[in-house]
Amino acid sequence: MAPMTAPSPSELTKSDFGDDFTWGVAHASYQVEGAWDADGKGPSIWDTFTHKPRKIKDGSTGDEACDFYHRYPEDTALVKELGFEAQRFSISWPRVLPTGTGQVNQKGLDFYSRVVDECLAAGVEPWITIYHWDLPEALSQKGGWANRDVIGWFEEFVGVISERLGDRVKDWMVFNEPCSFIQGGYLSGVHAPGVRSFAKMLAASHHVNLCQAVGARVLRANVADSNVGTTHILTPMRTNRDSERHRRAAAAIDAFANRIFIEPNFGLGYPTEDAPLMQRVERYVQGDDMRDIVVDWDFFGVQYYTRVLVKPVPIPLLRGIPWISKDHKNYEITAMGWEVQPDGLYESLQRVHAYGKVDRLLVTENGVAVPDHLVGDRVRDPRRTAFYQDHLAEVLRAKRDGVPVEGYFCWSLMDNFEWAAGYVPRFGLTYVDYPTQRRVVKDSGRWFQQFLGAA
Ligand code: FCB
Repeated sequence: MAPMTAPSPSELTKSDFGDDFTWGVAHASYQVEGAWDADGKGPSIWDTFTHKPRKIKDGSTGDEACDFYHRYPEDTALVKELGFEAQRFSISWPRVLPTGTGQVNQKGLDFYSRVVDECLAAGVEPWITIYHWDLPEALSQKGGWANRDVIGWFEEFVGVISERLGDRVKDWMVFNEPCSFIQGGYLSGVHAPGVRSFAKMLAASHHVNLCQAVGARVLRANVADSNVGTTHILTPMRTNRDSERHRRAAAAIDAFANRIFIEPNFGLGYPTEDAPLMQRVERYVQGDDMRDIVVDWDFFGVQYYTRVLVKPVPIPLLRGIPWISKDHKNYEITAMGWEVQPDGLYESLQRVHAYGKVDRLLVTENGVAVPDHLVGDRVRDPRRTAFYQDHLAEVLRAKRDGVPVEGYFCWSLMDNFEWAAGYVPRFGLTYVDYPTQRRVVKDSGRWFQQFLGAA
């Protein structure tokens, strides 16, 4: 069948996507919960990191964030009000296991149990991400993801969570975007724990890939009728010239940014041909690792924000090392400095489908930060609504071209702590007035409410 062009974004209807399509919103523990030291919670690497000077653009921390820890009933009611049927949230590991292993903090575990019950009572399906970046500080002190012992630590954590919540939660994602927290945390150092080491980045990558398989196995053992997946950010790499050097540069970055975290779990090994430096990962591979690493996912979560332009670095000393650049002249730019390119979502969905390894895909994150202004009780954010419409049109195009996409989660329900960028970029369908914690549904949230038939 010839690929169809994207349907007209403003004419989309919910029924175009089918009755079995899951519509949800996503957020993550450190970005929304606050209550950073409440009720026996231990510190996470993000608590440590944000409390150091100059790590976060606006000097802020997640100490209070959106206070979801106390406001989850009101926020879950909002999910329902806007017409979404699923709420994706993550578990703070040190809230449940303050030092990472051993003693369970009952109050922390009870909190997540209450959130699950609140969702179910509201008719909202809880979709849980096991790990969305907040490692216990105590484990980071022992080397964190770069220490192979993390496999056992993680196995224990997944066991505790799934034994307690698995009677009510069926939909699970083992990780959120390994590429972001491993490369941000261990290579560039812009994310917690702020390490800059190529060797540690490679070790951590391999350990996370192994933990994907461990997490899936524990979830399946503890949860009847489980639906187990994981999530990856996909960033298509473009070049603005069709030279061999440009192509090689893009292939190398693509191997490090996209393939290194996807292909080992698919049983395809590490993509070392396109990135010879990656061969060093073999130092961390032991015994039957490459057999044990393979996972048969029930679903695959695609997260998409933008594409990037890759250029070979023209400095002789660095030749062969690619460089990521921007093509700002030709695209609308978001408050994160990212280019708006909806067809990259189509490309990413097609790409994952083309591996032939997963039967079901969901878009587990997609969204945009634009400058929002609260005027009275209203936030007019037409650019965000247009962003969603344009991206949904690409999801539908992929679906019509045969990609089994079965759901879409907006990032995010509400404005929240955007990691190294602090609170300035706002990604929410709901505006958060941080000093008062008041929530105001933005026009884009109202658009979804109508689109989903809940208005
Ligand atoms: C993704 C993260 C998520 C959020 C969005 C904007 O990479 O998974 O936590 O920060 O970007």
